[in-house]
Amino acid sequence: TLEQDLTDKNILITAGPTIENIDPVRYITNRSSGKMGYSIARKAIERGANVTLISGKTSLDIPNGVSEFIQVESAKQMYEAVVDNLDKNDIIIKSAAVADYKPKNISDIKIKKSDDDLIIELDRNKDILKEIGKIKKDKILVGFAAETNDLIQNAKKKIEKKNLDFIVANDLTQEGAGFGVDTNIVKIIDKNGNIQEYPKMKKYELSNVILDRVKMLSK
Ligand code: PMT
Repeated sequence: TLEQDLTDKNILITAGPTIENIDPVRYITNRSSGKMGYSIARKAIERGANVTLISGKTSLDIPNGVSEFIQVESAKQMYEAVVDNLDKNDIIIKSAAVADYKPKNISDIKIKKSDDDLIIELDRNKDILKEIGKIKKDKILVGFAAETNDLIQNAKKKIEKKNLDFIVANDLTQEGAGFGVDTNIVKIIDKNGNIQEYPKMKKYELSNVILDRVKMLSK
């Protein structure tokens, strides 16, 4: 059993993929299963925190003991849910895989196929973390980075652009890291540029590592 060392903490966690509709039957999404975010939520609850979990569509069970569970689909809905729940949380952990783009027009009716190619125009979605980073004040903001190349360089850029306290960078090229699996292989980089490398570990073990860091920062 874990020590209840986060009892005075209010933690907002985002998890899972977002989906962006093309028409009533089709959408654009990504490979996030929600396992990383849900496992952080479970550990935070076990350690006594009040957890708000904002989740895209996953096949996972809602963690027992969650203070608030908010189901969303699109990046826009996730953005609105995060903003609505910002005031009551001191710690924000963004493990969701958010779509950067959405179809410019969502068709009300199923798009019929023709002999021509189909071009779907995409608009930029808001960067949720970046927006929160602008207004976070003394809240602790933790991001993730899912990269296939130049992991550290890209992750460092994200810390700066999004005003993060630290970032958890998964190297998607390694087996047992990132989407779908029960393990992860990460480097954690803080806003001063210090890098700590971790071996392959279960997502629930990594969750404790992340929460330990958050706890250290939030004294
Ligand atoms: O869900 P699992 O299957 O367990 O997989 C876990 C995971 C690989 C999804 C997770 O560990 C992870 O890396 N999540 C972030 C994936 C991602 O979208 O990374 P990114 O590099 O595109 O985004 C960087 C950060 O900005 C993320 O914290 C993301 O939540 C945030 N972001 C991105 C785009 C956007 N429009 N708004 C955001 O807030």
